[in-house]
Amino acid sequence: MAQFDTRSVHAGRDDLTALGVHVPPIDLSTTYPLPGVAAGGTSYDALAQGDGPDGGSLVYQRLWNPTVARFEEALAELEHTDGAVAFGSGMAALTACLLATVAADRPHVVAVRPLYGGSDHLLSTGLLGTTVSYTSAASVAAELRPDTGLVIVETPANPTVELVDLAAVKRQAGDVPVLVDNTFATPVLQQPARHGASLVLHSATKYLGGHGDVMGGVVAADAEWIARLRQIRAVTGGLLHPLAAYELHRGLQTLPVRVRAQQATAGKVADWLSAQPAVSEVFYPGLSDPQALIGRQQSGPGAVLAFTVAGGYEAAARVAGSLKLITHAVSLGGVDTLIQHPAALTHRLVTPEAKPSESLLRLSLGLEDPEDLTADLAQALPQP
Ligand SMILES: Cc1ncc(COP(=O)(O)O)c(C=O)c1O
Repeated sequence: MAQFDTRSVHAGRDDLTALGVHVPPIDLSTTYPLPGVAAGGTSYDALAQGDGPDGGSLVYQRLWNPTVARFEEALAELEHTDGAVAFGSGMAALTACLLATVAADRPHVVAVRPLYGGSDHLLSTGLLGTTVSYTSAASVAAELRPDTGLVIVETPANPTVELVDLAAVKRQAGDVPVLVDNTFATPVLQQPARHGASLVLHSATKYLGGHGDVMGGVVAADAEWIARLRQIRAVTGGLLHPLAAYELHRGLQTLPVRVRAQQATAGKVADWLSAQPAVSEVFYPGLSDPQALIGRQQSGPGAVLAFTVAGGYEAAARVAGSLKLITHAVSLGGVDTLIQHPAALTHRLVTPEAKPSESLLRLSLGLEDPEDLTADLAQALPQP
């Protein structure tokens, strides 16, 4: 099989030359001509059960869309899974996984904190019929119950970029499927299915799209999970639009180049921040990796870091508000550098015991020159 970078460029495009085109066609059909009532019904059954197209009609966009399927095929190839199912956002992707867990009559979830605040909040509310036990990566086994249907882990975790040893979590989880949110690492740096994950989830809104102009979510998994998730998507309608799928598929082509360049900048900015008197602590796996997971599980430390500033909430808010080049905004993984205050924004809704520090800022490094970024941070940080 070709190398990762080659596959990023070509995955999901094998048939283009035969089609006589250079880039994938976009199919915007919401409905498809039916060959006959009975044959249409047969196609409907196949798609609604989560199987692929049966050679008849594609019936209706909520059941299947060829542009979305191309992106799914490409992402699955990069994540080393049988397939992938794309959704309208990362939260829609997580919702489908939780609904599948409830439908399997094992509604208890063991969630390793920290998690993205939206995921943490969705679990806390029990809105989808799940119950949750929050724990640390070392204590997953102690929280398992007969009705546990899923273990959820994020690595690097939002917002403090702590790494979790996936093989160790998998050993503890036993037969219980492990969902790994791979949004921060991307398949460029980490392929969780190779470390025992049954479900690999992305907020595609972040690095996969990479330019801050498309929302999406995707779950990569084995054939059995894929069929289940497609069924749920067809019934609940959490679709990815074909135009968004086109953009995400195109984003995969530059993903390795972007992630490596952004990671190199993150390393430089992390070193620079570590030397600033106004900065109390810098969180970045390139600076501290106590479990030695870089190289073993994840090929590099990634392009997101977090840091605390002396002076608590007021000081952190002043820094976020004083930057000129770096944009003060939620989200991450795009070509431009973003900063945000997790306790006030992305993790606003989590319960008090899981709230990040009021002094913490999360920084997602983009493709700007690192010296311009450190100059901007220098003018925004309080002077000693
Ligand atoms: C790690 C992680 N997972 C999931 C999500 C949710 O994704 P979306 O915003 O695309 O719904 C986010 C969003 O910030 C995230 O950071």
